[in-house]
Amino acid sequence: MSGKLVNRAILVTGATSGMGRAIAETFSREGASLLLTGRDTARGKALVEALKATNPAVHFVAADISRPGENERLVREALERFGNIDMLSLNAGVLGLGSVTDLSIDLWHQTLDTNLSAIFYLCKAAIPHLLKSDRPNILINASIAAFKSFPNHPAYCASKAGAVALMKQLAVEYGPHIRVNALCPGPVDTPLLWESAAAFKDPDNAVEHARKATLLKRLGRPEDVAGLALFLASEDASWITGSAFTIDGGIMNA
Ligand SMILES: NC(=O)c1ccc[n+]([C@@H]2O[C@H](COP(=O)([O-])OP(=O)(O)OC[C@H]3O[C@@H](n4cnc5c(N)ncnc54)[C@H](OP(=O)(O)O)[C@@H]3O)[C@@H](O)[C@H]2O)c1
Repeated sequence: MSGKLVNRAILVTGATSGMGRAIAETFSREGASLLLTGRDTARGKALVEALKATNPAVHFVAADISRPGENERLVREALERFGNIDMLSLNAGVLGLGSVTDLSIDLWHQTLDTNLSAIFYLCKAAIPHLLKSDRPNILINASIAAFKSFPNHPAYCASKAGAVALMKQLAVEYGPHIRVNALCPGPVDTPLLWESAAAFKDPDNAVEHARKATLLKRLGRPEDVAGLALFLASEDASWITGSAFTIDGGIMNA
């Protein structure tokens, strides 16, 4: 195979839907060896079947990344298949909607575990192996919610702000060897965006309001974000670390 990610062994979380799926498709086209994960085995297997037609080095392992042991298992699975790990692409996320007074303590923990602690769990298990790679790389899918609040999103916004802070900490602690960056998307047309509408005053029109609020007057496509992920994964970005990249159709400047 040819491509920008040939000979790169990459573990992609949240690969069964939305942006993680688009990133998996893009990385597969660029020749990466991929271990894809999510909880939904049917969607994961269907994706692997589709990708295997052009890239035989694509595998799916079901896992709930909110559990520390599941992340350790993913690292073992990647090492068994590829012998090494060059990159983590961390996309799994949930909304955990509800105001501070309405949100259950369980949902708070579930949201923080999935969106933030899972990054710590997977990095903790994978970094000793990433350090053996010649060009290791970690890319965290955070959100503009790291910088901006949204109604009924306290757990989500706190988790995403934490993800950006953890990204910077990782970049400092593991530089100059490991490059670590974050994607901060605005409204991207995925199931999660449509689910988030329930949190707003006018749920039926919330996504349309978001579209109109972008300077470019359209929602992001998962492929838009996958293009930025490919740039950051590749050697084109070899001098970039510790940065959070807003990709939002301009909504943060609206
Ligand atoms: N869409 C947006 O507008 C937007 C904007 C900014 C940031 N983001 C962030 O971008 C990332 C991708 O979101 P998306 O919009 O593409 O959402 P999506 O289509 O709903 O995909 C979410 C993914 O996370 C996985 N996931 C959730 N909980 C998990 C768990 N406990 N263990 C393992 N996998 C889990 C899901 O897999 P299973 O269902 O198979 O478990 C799915 O693959 C998320 O971190 C999200 O917060 C989204």
